[in-house]
Amino acid sequence: MQFNFDAPNPTSSKMSETPVAHNALPPPSSTSSARSARIATHSHIKGLGLSPEGLAVGDAAGFVGQTNAREACGVVVSLIQSRKFSGRALLLVGAPGTGKTALALAVAQELGAKVPFCPMVGSEVYSTEVKKTEVLAEAFRRAIGIRIKETKEVYEGELTELTPSESENPLSGYGKSVEYVVVGLKSARGSKSLRLDPSIYEAILKEKIAVGDVIYIEANTGAVKRVGRSDAYASSYDLESETYVPLPKGDVHKKKELVQDLTLGDLDSANARPQGGQDIMSVMGSLVKSNRTEVTEKLRREVNKVVRGYVEQGVAEIVPGVVFIDEVHMLDIECFTYLNALLESPMAPTVIFATNRGNSLVRGTSDVVAPHGVPVDLLDRCLIVKTDTHTKLQIQKVLQLRANVEGLKLGNGVLEKLGEVGEGSSMRYALQLLTPGSILASLAGRDTIEVEDVSEMGELFLDAKSSAGVIGGL
Ligand SMILES: Nc1ncnc2c1ncn2[C@@H]1O[C@H](COP(=O)(O)OP(=O)(O)OP(=O)(O)O)[C@@H](O)[C@H]1O
Ligand SMILES: [Mg+2]
Repeated sequence: MQFNFDAPNPTSSKMSETPVAHNALPPPSSTSSARSARIATHSHIKGLGLSPEGLAVGDAAGFVGQTNAREACGVVVSLIQSRKFSGRALLLVGAPGTGKTALALAVAQELGAKVPFCPMVGSEVYSTEVKKTEVLAEAFRRAIGIRIKETKEVYEGELTELTPSESENPLSGYGKSVEYVVVGLKSARGSKSLRLDPSIYEAILKEKIAVGDVIYIEANTGAVKRVGRSDAYASSYDLESETYVPLPKGDVHKKKELVQDLTLGDLDSANARPQGGQDIMSVMGSLVKSNRTEVTEKLRREVNKVVRGYVEQGVAEIVPGVVFIDEVHMLDIECFTYLNALLESPMAPTVIFATNRGNSLVRGTSDVVAPHGVPVDLLDRCLIVKTDTHTKLQIQKVLQLRANVEGLKLGNGVLEKLGEVGEGSSMRYALQLLTPGSILASLAGRDTIEVEDVSEMGELFLDAKSSAGVIGGL
């Protein structure tokens, strides 16, 4: 296994046919986007909604109530940011539907996109293909970010000229081939005309670069990256997908600091596969393909060693992220003991657990009953935060928030009625009634959900308690 951040061998990297742009990386927490369906129910949550002093004043950022839990999570966020919480865990406990998952996602949002956040559900460890402990180990590796800062020699500027020079090729029957390409670049301090290899011309075509774009070409590797369109070409449209950038400062030929964010998990999987190129570009190029190969403990140790080397040289920086394990009571004793070990390793991320169980049997044992179904030695490493049950008013506020997000109109008295339903069963049940409600309304030819729709749903659907009651009575 080897990868080289300095890319000293220009020929080998020019061979790698896809010079991957620096922004072509999947976001560090790419796993989270795969779970958009689960997260969509929390789309109204934009953060913890805390004041600069860390107080939860009123309802903010989509969060209603839960003052204590929000403030506690705020403290944890600052502990994580000041890197004083690694290797420890936060346990969120509370009744179903009180917002534990929402809180964890809010923590992720407060930390920002640069901090890796790797969410999973306890039951995900039960796979027939991969060992339980492997699933946990991988999640932990995906939650350790590495920020690589490289200073590279680049040619950067606005593209002013792109002229391929073709020549007759006597050996090939296909006539002309590109011999070299002339690229004109302009920066604030001057302009330069470069005569470059045809492979760079291909890269330019692949990136769909046109005259007027700001680009840079890495001197060592020949990799081409489009930064954006020069703002000299900016149009007056309000809504556009194009990003406009100013003319680069300094000379065309210069040293530039490039920053890339990836995770240990990315490096593991990229290196599990034998491949051609050996520079960082090809390592990242392979990140996109997702054929799974085994990542062994030995490989992980080697990746750690290389990364540690880069950290010592000051090239890379470790960014500990967050692993979120929802429904943690679903893990069994084997996983729990492994978690203890993972938490104590020197490169451990912050861990957030959530559970809605009280005292229960620890899975995988026949007689160990522990609070939240989590063994006491792991509980000992946790800070525990409790979420409170919502009041009727809070349920109504969340209902209104969701109705706004989903674009539903509520008629007079609907909030009141759904609030009662929520108080009687659970907030989630009330929230779930919104969509069927809108369907009933549209069947009746209305675009507003009315009280009668809510009553009709009361006849059509049962909440958990009444359903259990009906079956029990049979
Ligand atoms: N305080 C709150 N403010 C705004 N929305 C909330 C709040 N609490 C919960 N919600 C919303 O209510 C729904 C249920 O909450 P969530 O899924 O977070 O509950 P949970 O505590 O994780 O429940 P479970 O134990 O069943 O997993 C979600 O759509 C969530 O976004
Ligand atoms: Mg949950």
